[in-house]
Amino acid sequence: MRTLKVAVIPGDGVGPEISEACQPVIEAAAAGADILLESTHLDWGGQRHLRLGAPMPEDGPSILRQFDAALFGAVGRPDVPDHQLIWGLIIRLRQELGLSVNLRPALTLPGVPGPLRGGATIDLLVVRENTEGEYAGAGGRLRSGHPGEVAVEVAIHSRSAISDAARFAFEAARRRRRRLHLVTKSNAMRFGYVLWDEVVAEVAADYPEVSWERVLVDAMAARVVQRPEELDVLLCSNLFGDILSDLTAALVGGLGMAPSANIRPGQRLGVFEPVHGSAPDIAGRGIANPSGYLLSAAMMFDHLEARAAGDQIRSALAHALEQPELRTPDLGGTATTTRLASAVLARVQAGEASRT
Ligand code: NAI
Ligand code: MG
Repeated sequence: MRTLKVAVIPGDGVGPEISEACQPVIEAAAAGADILLESTHLDWGGQRHLRLGAPMPEDGPSILRQFDAALFGAVGRPDVPDHQLIWGLIIRLRQELGLSVNLRPALTLPGVPGPLRGGATIDLLVVRENTEGEYAGAGGRLRSGHPGEVAVEVAIHSRSAISDAARFAFEAARRRRRRLHLVTKSNAMRFGYVLWDEVVAEVAADYPEVSWERVLVDAMAARVVQRPEELDVLLCSNLFGDILSDLTAALVGGLGMAPSANIRPGQRLGVFEPVHGSAPDIAGRGIANPSGYLLSAAMMFDHLEARAAGDQIRSALAHALEQPELRTPDLGGTATTTRLASAVLARVQAGEASRT
């Protein structure tokens, strides 16, 4: 039996209720793969910010370095400006831990209908550069409060970050259906996205078996809706990946279904989190969909070479969601967070029993 040390950061809003409901599932899946999960609960997030002035300790990123992985719920609360919490926690972790790649798969599950006519079957992966672009934090404001006030937000694109994300995306495409789309806007933006086009073309030369194409982001938005079954890997900048992955999530059942991984190629420590935020509109009612969090935990196990545990979670969740009475309200059902999570737990445990 091996031990994995995981930092659990439930955060705000629906984060804690989802995290609590899912923890037994994640532990059971680990146990089934002969793994002892040593979970440490960290109280980072909006409440800590109100109490102590920051959503996480100053040395938060180094604290996480003592773990194999972090599982994160969401941050954000209506009484704190969003950018303070997002920057003080998740963006800071991504930047200071060098988590340069964000993976956001979107997969149609048989029990979860999407909004598209004809019910397209979608199986794609958004690979998003995670530390630069429009979210680099470079900029400032002048003449505060004055009618002539201006704000400047500068996008930063580096050859090394583009090339890391591109290499990761081509490797993923090679293991998948060998198709890659680079999403840019190099017709209207003449510097950053032109660099993307050039660097990705260089990286692509090392992957002749992957067919790839460059598509402008506006055209891709239409294509994701019209012909999503043709898409395999989408390689995106930080901003475009953020937006398109909410769209692809919506096509496979909504934000409640979407998982993500923040990783650095070659590094063990990653941060795994559902794509959704703290959902204050439904927080406290026990009806949030735990699927995105569970699928993020499955990605964590894959990343830590414990694929059996990840597969257990994915297959137990897919089977549970085939039952209409186990679907949460966002999927058109009436199940609570705990009802769905307990049903997944039972299936994970049954899977174990059938193997022993
Ligand atoms: P959101 O993802 O929290 O909610 C958008 C919509 O999706 C809401 O109607 C919500 O009820 C629904 N939804 C989200 N997760 C769900 C789930 N698990 N089950 C069922 N329905 C779900 O995004 P929004 O409203 O833009 O932001 C709310 C707060 O979350 C803000 O403070 C924002 O800054 C923060 N946020 C944090 C993120 C993070 O921690 N990584 C990411 C996105 C937003
Ligand atoms: Mg987003």
